[in-house]
Amino acid sequence: MDGNGRWAASRNLPRLEGHRRGAERIFDVIDECITLGIPTLTIFAFSVENWKRPVEEVSGLFKLGEFVLRANLARILKRKVKLKIIGNLEEMPDFVKEPLKDALIKSKDNDVLTLVVALNYGARQEVALATRKIAEEVAAGKLKPDQINWAELEKHLETAGLPDPDLIIRTSGEARLSNFLLLQAAYAEIVITETYWPDFTKEEFQKSLAVFAKRERRFGMTGAQVQPAKTL
Ligand code: FPP
Repeated sequence: MDGNGRWAASRNLPRLEGHRRGAERIFDVIDECITLGIPTLTIFAFSVENWKRPVEEVSGLFKLGEFVLRANLARILKRKVKLKIIGNLEEMPDFVKEPLKDALIKSKDNDVLTLVVALNYGARQEVALATRKIAEEVAAGKLKPDQINWAELEKHLETAGLPDPDLIIRTSGEARLSNFLLLQAAYAEIVITETYWPDFTKEEFQKSLAVFAKRERRFGMTGAQVQPAKTL
């Protein structure tokens, strides 16, 4: 959700106002995913590196997160959205952790949209943790080293059971992955838009989807293999 800070700065507003406006946009995108039948949406709410921000911004983001969740839980449940968190929730303050755990329980049987919130998440940390779990299984004799392959590693990632992302949208012109789903994104299409996240309306989302729809996804194959046979 990049560009909240710059959106605010360009209006002489505090950065947190940009985050507050940015949080509202999440619900536009959720609604559009439901309308279009997109089954999984992941939002990057807070990275492990975001702890390095000024303490006032970090605590302001957590307070905002708590407020947004409490204010919108009924809306989320009504739309049959299932919440999932990836990242280290235990390190979050109790006032964020508790409503999130409540929302996880209340939404667990929902099946219209899975909303994955990456919170205190970092892909490198996720892979290190998965590797540690695999090493423990090998040490305990439950797994042989030659059984370790991508399918096995994938089972130990926090995203186990979730589909790989098809599309990653980077707002505000940023052109990097910033420790987000690095392995799962191996074949994701990346769409970069100059729009700041607080301006990322349903229409902007549709524009990014239209760019995605024009991409030829080859997954290592040739164009001829993935194109339907042309009639003469
Ligand atoms: C990136 O914009 C945005 C973030 C780091 C945080 C966005 C998170 C929310 C709106 C929800 C918060 C919820 C919780 C639970 C933490 P930026 O600040 O990097 O923008 P800039 O690049 O323009 O400075």
